[in-house]
Amino acid sequence: MELKIYKDHQTLSDAAANEIIELIKIKPKAVICLASGETPKLTCQLLVKKALKDKIDMSQFTFIGLDEWVGISPSNEGSCFYFFQKELIEPLGFNNEQTHLFDALSNNLEEQCRKMDQLIFEKGGIDLMIVGIGMNGHIGFNEPGVSFDNYSHVIDLDETTVTVGQKYFKTATALQKGITLGLKHLREARKVLLLANGAKKAGVIKQTMKDNVTNKFPASIMQTLPNGVVMVDKEAASLLNE
Ligand code: PGA
Repeated sequence: MELKIYKDHQTLSDAAANEIIELIKIKPKAVICLASGETPKLTCQLLVKKALKDKIDMSQFTFIGLDEWVGISPSNEGSCFYFFQKELIEPLGFNNEQTHLFDALSNNLEEQCRKMDQLIFEKGGIDLMIVGIGMNGHIGFNEPGVSFDNYSHVIDLDETTVTVGQKYFKTATALQKGITLGLKHLREARKVLLLANGAKKAGVIKQTMKDNVTNKFPASIMQTLPNGVVMVDKEAASLLNE
């Protein structure tokens, strides 16, 4: 695992967006999984800017959404679907065939999981995963206590996730379960970038980097990934030298 510290969220996001662009340039059919949320939003926006400016052909790569709130409609502004639609799919004109997001309203979520796993398998695995980190150390909805050996699965959300997750929704929203790619996908991906910015993430970044590797704090799995990069701004790195 590598640690990269950037001066601010802007330069960090710029570097993450460049990773995507460079990968697509050398491998137009790459398989790329992205997280939604406050952290990667700027990465997505910079990606759109760069891709349009440099006329990068984004039509061939496979785009996978990391996770979704179970039972939340795609038209809800707090859904991951809504985020991806607004930040990437629409501005870059992704086609349906290249876009793969969990249908969290499906009455067969297990099938959604197996379909996602099968797709990743058939495409030859994930080239690049860009993820964030929750205040409980979750990655996607890989909540504390999750197995490192899971592929896609449905999971009961941790209390912290339910509380913190309210920030995405306009009104108080009942959140119980999530559907998510698993940590086994992270372990098998050719490259994983974990992004974090801001002082509020300093504590969880310290735990990610310095504490024992344990499923009680899922992001600690980063320590075991030879191709994992933790990319943080100065504020999120502020507790690392203590
Ligand atoms: P955030 O979410 O980027 O909105 O802070 C991170 C996460 O919960 O994974």
